[in-house]
Amino acid sequence: MIEAKITAFGTNVPNKRIDNDFYEKLIDTTDEWIVSRTGIKTRYHTTDTEFTSDLCEAAIKDMLSRYPVTLEAVDMIIVATVTPDQPMPAMSCVMQLKFNIPHTGAIDIFAACAGFAYGLTLAKGLIAAGTHKKVIVLAAETLSKITDFEDRTSCILFGDGAGVVIVEAAQNGEKGNIGACLTGSYGEGGPDLYMSGLAPNLYGAEIKRNRKIVQNGKKVFKWAINTVSKEIPRLLAMDGLTIDDIDWFVPHSANMRILEGISSELKVPMSKFLESITNFGNTSSASIPLALNQALKSNIVKKGDKMVFFGFGGGLTYAGNVVTWGLD
Ligand code: COA
Repeated sequence: MIEAKITAFGTNVPNKRIDNDFYEKLIDTTDEWIVSRTGIKTRYHTTDTEFTSDLCEAAIKDMLSRYPVTLEAVDMIIVATVTPDQPMPAMSCVMQLKFNIPHTGAIDIFAACAGFAYGLTLAKGLIAAGTHKKVIVLAAETLSKITDFEDRTSCILFGDGAGVVIVEAAQNGEKGNIGACLTGSYGEGGPDLYMSGLAPNLYGAEIKRNRKIVQNGKKVFKWAINTVSKEIPRLLAMDGLTIDDIDWFVPHSANMRILEGISSELKVPMSKFLESITNFGNTSSASIPLALNQALKSNIVKKGDKMVFFGFGGGLTYAGNVVTWGLD
């Protein structure tokens, strides 16, 4: 099997900063409630003229400025997003055009907040199969555009952002750094977190058709803690690892209290968790790269550190990866 390694990394968030006092003026809430129930202090939203493709483009430019990689030989672009500028052309095709990549496949995936971990899993699979050698995995969201600002239980959560990696085939006996990957789903929980599309019903039941995020926060909250804390040990066992072998746990940053619940179930201190919820809110598929970026910028994560990425969200879906960080 051909091994896969991450050779470059970048992120982007839009400029417009939205602090909690924005919501105090909009709905019946307080900064104190938002911070204590979610951990969020601020997040960033796109303007009316900025879209997911802009965040993707900026994240790729950030990556190219930080690592000595080129895009010519990229043979697949995967974009994980539930907020594409439009359903077609796909965001991956838009990036093929923007960066003039000559011979590449292009596909968008809908795995909601698990999108980045799913994208890495797919990239590793394409490389292991020998069909592809250099894959861009982007995770980018403009959740502010599908947020129901009249729903005080959800509108305070969401932010916009993007992250990107290049995954390449390891060469000349070099070891890869994407280890075990695990994927799962729980369709029964679909109605607990959805956005309407063409159909008037979901599993036969009528739904809110406002094309905004609708969620049963309490149910998703419990499911997330149970699922992630059960599945992380299973993921590690696939690589013969245990909790003690891991330097950094990077679950999707959905809510600080979800991370605290996972930390308590796994009996791992919160100091071993990387998060992006405090400064960026819930950015869905982009939250794992944004958490990693903060940790890299403050020199917390070092080359050789072992990490677990674990995404979970709408679908309901989940996916995890064991990654040994290999970049400076
Ligand atoms: N400001 C002030 N009060 C609020 C509020 C807000 N923005 N939103 C809800 N409340 C109130 C509720 O009305 C309720 O009042 P009541 O007790 O008088 O009925 C009280 O706060 C508690 O509400 P509850 O829904 O139980 O809060 P919670 O602790 O479950 O937190 C979420 C709500 C949404 C923050 C939390 O459930 C959550 O984060 N869930 C997971 C969501 C998620 O991660 N989704 C994406 C997954 S990828």
